[in-house]
Amino acid sequence: MLSGNSIGKTLVATCFGESHGPCVGAVVDGCPAGLPITFDDIQTELNKRNPGLTAVSTPRREEDQVEILSGVFNGHTTGAPICLIIGNRDVEPEAYEQMRHKPRPGHADYIAYMKYGGFNDYRGGGRFSGRVTAAYVAAGAIAKKLLTQISVEVLAHTVQIGKIKITKNVSYDQIRENVYDNAVRCAVLESADLMEKEILKAAEEGDSLGGVVEVIALNVPAGLGEPVFDSLDSDIAKMMFNIPAVKGVEFGAGFQVASLKGSENNDAYVIRKGKVTSPTNNAGGVLGGLSTGMPIVLRVAFKPTSSIAKRQKTVDLTKMKETEIEVAGRHDLCIVPRAVPVVESCLALVLTDHALRAGKIPKVIKA
Ligand SMILES: Cc1cc2nc3c(=O)[nH]c(=O)nc-3n(C[C@H](O)[C@H](O)[C@H](O)COP(=O)(O)O)c2cc1C
Repeated sequence: MLSGNSIGKTLVATCFGESHGPCVGAVVDGCPAGLPITFDDIQTELNKRNPGLTAVSTPRREEDQVEILSGVFNGHTTGAPICLIIGNRDVEPEAYEQMRHKPRPGHADYIAYMKYGGFNDYRGGGRFSGRVTAAYVAAGAIAKKLLTQISVEVLAHTVQIGKIKITKNVSYDQIRENVYDNAVRCAVLESADLMEKEILKAAEEGDSLGGVVEVIALNVPAGLGEPVFDSLDSDIAKMMFNIPAVKGVEFGAGFQVASLKGSENNDAYVIRKGKVTSPTNNAGGVLGGLSTGMPIVLRVAFKPTSSIAKRQKTVDLTKMKETEIEVAGRHDLCIVPRAVPVVESCLALVLTDHALRAGKIPKVIKA
């Protein structure tokens, strides 16, 4: 297969659509029959990604109303492919005319033009737009619902924006309660305030910021993952790198392991309440490509939004001359806040695929 628009082996999500076309959407195939699912289950997840009226996100106003076209009947999944679409209503393709032959530095414009011979939909980045992640979130809502069958919970939060990092330990309850109550999706409210100010400061200079999202999955059964090439961490990392603007993924202690000694990095085994566990989780919940039963913990690094107001050097492809560009269109000043529910959905999709492969979720869900 030449295309790369599907992911998963048992729960297969195929995503389609472009930023300024009629819609984006997903077909989720392999979902067990009998899963209770409502419009609200999916819409609630999409609303978390919706920019709304915050000062730090794109001024593009999309309602992001999902339509369920197939695979759900009488409030339950039928076992047939589930097709979900989300209309693009607030399109503004004219803003992208100047970029048709003047690629934005840091975006995919130039390389997409070269790969597809100029036939690609260049409006708003087309297929390379962050808009496609609305489809990931819609598909992820089905995955999240399936994970509730085995009590797995996925939580994500912003831990860094620009140079502002959270320094305190954050409880799961703080994440549950605070993340969607502030514009930057941070669980520590004092830091949220500083992060928002940092983004607005960069925006005043015509610039943008990046940051880091941490995601945690709780109650994941031990043994998910199919070594060697479908190991759990490699599938998760692949999924995360499918999110536009992701430049790094680290599990548990991550890159810090390079400077630790074995004795410092190893998670010792102890017995608590008759069960084998570890007091530390430097492994981030994965060893040998298999879930250990400890929380799965990873951090995903996002680059600063490439579409910035500041004047930048580029080329005019029609004249083959150097020129400059001030990027028009409506853009997120920082991608991180809107990426939080996307990261959550992506982890849910991979865990569900592996839980189905391991037979942890039944093929028919009975009440
Ligand atoms: C939720 C989300 C929103 C995004 N919004 C923008 C945006 O407004 N402007 C922009 O230039 N890039 C945005 N991006 C990132 C670009 O899509 C991405 O940088 C581009 O496709 C190039 O891909 P790469 O950064 O992965 O190499 C967004 C990404 C995500 C996940």
